[in-house]
Amino acid sequence: MLANQEASGGSAEGASAATAGRLHRLLLRLDAERAHGLALAGLRAAAGVPILRARLARRYRFVDRRLEQRLLGARFPNPIGLAAGFDKDALAISGFESLGFGFVEVGTVTPLPQAGNPRPRLFRHPRQASLQNAMGFNNRGLRALAKRLEGRPGGNPLGVNIGRNKETAPDQVAADYRRVAARLSGRCDYLVVNVSSPNTPGLRDLQERGRLGKLLAAVRESTETPFLVKLSPDLDLALAVSLAAAAVQEGAAGVVLTNTTVDYSLLPGAVAPGGLSGRVLRERSFEMLRAVARELFGRCLLISVGGVETAEDAYRRLRHGASLVQLYTALVYRGPRLVRTLNQGLVRLLERDGASSIAEVIGMDL
Ligand SMILES: Cc1cc2nc3c(=O)[nH]c(=O)nc-3n(C[C@H](O)[C@H](O)[C@H](O)COP(=O)(O)O)c2cc1C
Repeated sequence: MLANQEASGGSAEGASAATAGRLHRLLLRLDAERAHGLALAGLRAAAGVPILRARLARRYRFVDRRLEQRLLGARFPNPIGLAAGFDKDALAISGFESLGFGFVEVGTVTPLPQAGNPRPRLFRHPRQASLQNAMGFNNRGLRALAKRLEGRPGGNPLGVNIGRNKETAPDQVAADYRRVAARLSGRCDYLVVNVSSPNTPGLRDLQERGRLGKLLAAVRESTETPFLVKLSPDLDLALAVSLAAAAVQEGAAGVVLTNTTVDYSLLPGAVAPGGLSGRVLRERSFEMLRAVARELFGRCLLISVGGVETAEDAYRRLRHGASLVQLYTALVYRGPRLVRTLNQGLVRLLERDGASSIAEVIGMDL
């Protein structure tokens, strides 16, 4: 990767690419959460300086009309998005856009700020290119997020992933979602109702037909922004399909598949707590997409997330019915050049298959 970066630019560009490579390797030697904080702060700082932002975009962004789509009333310049949880408080949206992401999903945001679970709560499993996190929705809360979005100059499509506070009483859970959805109505391109993070006790219990239906009805009444539902990979496939169908019936514009898994058998030696992401999740996430797409393709938007590392991974998700793909863990292991590599790879795969745009291949393998 580094060799390619050095070959692709002049000597100054090559030198700064080499520096980026060294910084990335250094981050991977630090404590995982500290590294994440530094990466986010660095990206935020760089994106705040127009000349640096432009330099990042020149190096990392890849533009090709064949990757464009219009979805949810917005123009997505490419189908690769940043998954929820990386930029929970919307601190560095334009930085991620400069890295080439076609869209960004911030959050999970809860009504009130909360600290999340005690540290350490984020661990790397480098040999499996996977992460394990028990963050517990640490975030600065709705008010801070809404304020940041108000000051946003515009850009690629933006999603906000919404959740409930840990301390919320069971009979107030729907009110939490309603409040967040109402405040963010019209402030982003889509909302994601998160009922699938494993680190908030009771949250996954919302993945039950009756409860999910009531919750989504509350969200629907509170917002004009399209909303999707994010499901767990630990659901039985038939249940996932029926919940997805129920969500669409309740007005959801789509489904995000999937969150992290607590099936520790996927990673030898892993123990609770926390959810696993990255390569160990890839096949599970893909199977769930395929099952849900067989039922719902063409009736709603499908976003696939979980273990996407290569252009072939992303392309396979598209061909199996996902219009958009997201990633988190692969960015940690592969570094800032990843999104460009994926988008360039997608164009090559389109050319190989004689397709003139990604819209032509979405759902082709169903
Ligand atoms: C450290 C960490 C924090 C996360 N936080 C959230 C979150 O707040 N909300 C959410 O819906 N998903 C969250 N996720 C899950 C990701 O959005 C994604 O669904 C999952 O990691 C699978 O994608 P990946 O294999 O590309 O990482 C988090 C994942 C990680 C690794």
